Amino acid sequence: MPHPAPQARAGVDALARNAECESCHPEVADEWRASLHAEAFTVREFQHAFRSEPLAFCRSCHAPEAGPAKEPALEAIGVACVTCHLPEGERVLAAARPAGAGGGAAPHPLARSERFASDEACAACHEFTFPDRRPVPEFMQTTVREHRRSAAAERPCADCHMPERPGGGRSHAFHASRDGAWMRSVVAIEASRPTAEEVEIRLELDAAAVGHALPTGDLFRQISVEARSTRRSLRPLTVRRVLARHWSAGGPGSIHREELADDRLGVGDNPRIVRLTLDPADAALAVRWRVRYERVESFVAGGEALVVGGVVLGEGLLEVPGDGVVEDAERGSTRPSYEGGR
Ligand code: HEC
Ligand code: HEC
Ligand code: HEC
Ligand code: HEC
Ligand code: HEC
Repeated sequence: MPHPAPQARAGVDALARNAECESCHPEVADEWRASLHAEAFTVREFQHAFRSEPLAFCRSCHAPEAGPAKEPALEAIGVACVTCHLPEGERVLAAARPAGAGGGAAPHPLARSERFASDEACAACHEFTFPDRRPVPEFMQTTVREHRRSAAAERPCADCHMPERPGGGRSHAFHASRDGAWMRSVVAIEASRPTAEEVEIRLELDAAAVGHALPTGDLFRQISVEARSTRRSLRPLTVRRVLARHWSAGGPGSIHREELADDRLGVGDNPRIVRLTLDPADAALAVRWRVRYERVESFVAGGEALVVGGVVLGEGLLEVPGDGVVEDAERGSTRPSYEGGR
């Protein structure tokens, strides 16, 4: 199955082979070129994080064809066709299919595999531990075990992440954390203000449509749930709660962290009720609420997160209860679905 560096193909020129795959499968190639797999090493977010932690460990997944060797051309193909389809050498790995279902005309040998059609095709890179030797290893990413515990455990990752194209074949675009519309479609959010001082936000994950926790993947991703007063001051007060895997701080220059708690959606109660208590000075005012999926680059002093991009999942305005109707005005608003980052 596909895996991080080192690749163990003898006498295969990965760049040349990849260019061949691309030339015969142009539609797949276009999608892949624009995907985070192709950009796994070059994408700004990775480069930023890598600058502060320039480990061979990181390169093994983000530049699996280059590995520790600083070869720009191999780094630039990121997780490549050959990484996923040619982990062992000559035969091209392909999903198992019922006999006579096509693919027979391939001018190259194929290795049809049930495992390649399952989450095993993704597992070696999408679930892994910190690169240190702890008595009990700590996981940096846990998407595969989350998937195996989820309501969608029977659906392979590709079912959701590689949808069938109208003209046949499967998409290699792998849109996820930059796809606001898809993300909003899987979380239903309602906000209310049971008392003047309290905001209650109910988040319900469509567990059958998400095959793991939300967020999953990168250890720093989070969902921020906040209420902000409409007070007319320069810095209106915000009360916030963050749903995430919560970590102990690593020492300076150290990536050693321990998970303290995990309150992401899909872990524990669903629906999730988040209650925020407002500053008493705001009890007489309308408040804005907002739920945002955030991509975090690192944590900075004071426990604040350096957010490099995200998607608004829901937002609105809540009047003071008893003071007319409780409004939920801007839910599903037309704000750009993606702010910052790429
Ligand atoms: C000379 C052209 C050519 C080259 C080079 C080539 N392919 Fe193919 N490939 C085909 C054709 C034609 C088929 C059969 C029709 C189809 O399924 O697209 C095929 C079939 C496949 C299939 C099976 C599709 C199925 O039925 O499930 C996979 C996977 C695949 N190729 C991947 C690759 C990869 C990865 C590379 C590079 C290592 C590659 N191909 C190189 C032409 C090529
Ligand atoms: C060789 C390692 C490797 C394999 C195998 C692999 N991935 Fe990835 N994947 C990555 C890396 C690294 C990234 C992150 C790229 C980035 O943004 O820097 C990624 C990104 C993604 C993303 C985009 C995440 C986002 O934030 O939007 C999705 C979705 C994804 N992979 C799904 C899959 C699925 C499904 C499979 C199996 C069919 C798979 N991957 C196989 C390494 C791999
Ligand atoms: C992150 C891993 C990954 C990468 C990168 C990747 N593929 Fe695939 N590809 C898969 C998986 C998994 C399947 C089978 C999905 C299934 O049917 O379960 C697949 C299916 C295919 C198929 C058959 C379905 C179709 O669309 O016709 C072809 C052909 C193919 N890949 C070619 C390529 C080429 C060419 C590249 C590079 C431009 C590439 N793949 C990059 C994982 C990958
Ligand atoms: C039932 C459908 C489904 C299955 C199965 C599934 N996912 Fe997802 N995945 C989603 C949805 C929905 C999202 C969130 C929407 C988005 O990020 O745009 C997502 C997001 C992601 C992300 C982006 C990180 C994030 O939280 O935004 C990664 C990486 C990912 N999935 C990997 C995988 C891997 C690897 C597997 C298999 C082990 C898998 N997924 C199985 C539906 C699915
Ligand atoms: C075993 C494979 C693996 C290793 C090792 C690894 N990563 Fe990743 N990384 C991934 C996968 C898979 C994703 C995609 C998950 C997601 O999008 O949430 C990812 C996502 C990321 C992202 C988010 C990129 C984006 O486009 O949003 C950053 C940043 C990142 N990794 C940095 C690092 C750094 C720094 C290291 C070394 C300390 C490292 N990674 C080591 C597999 C790996």
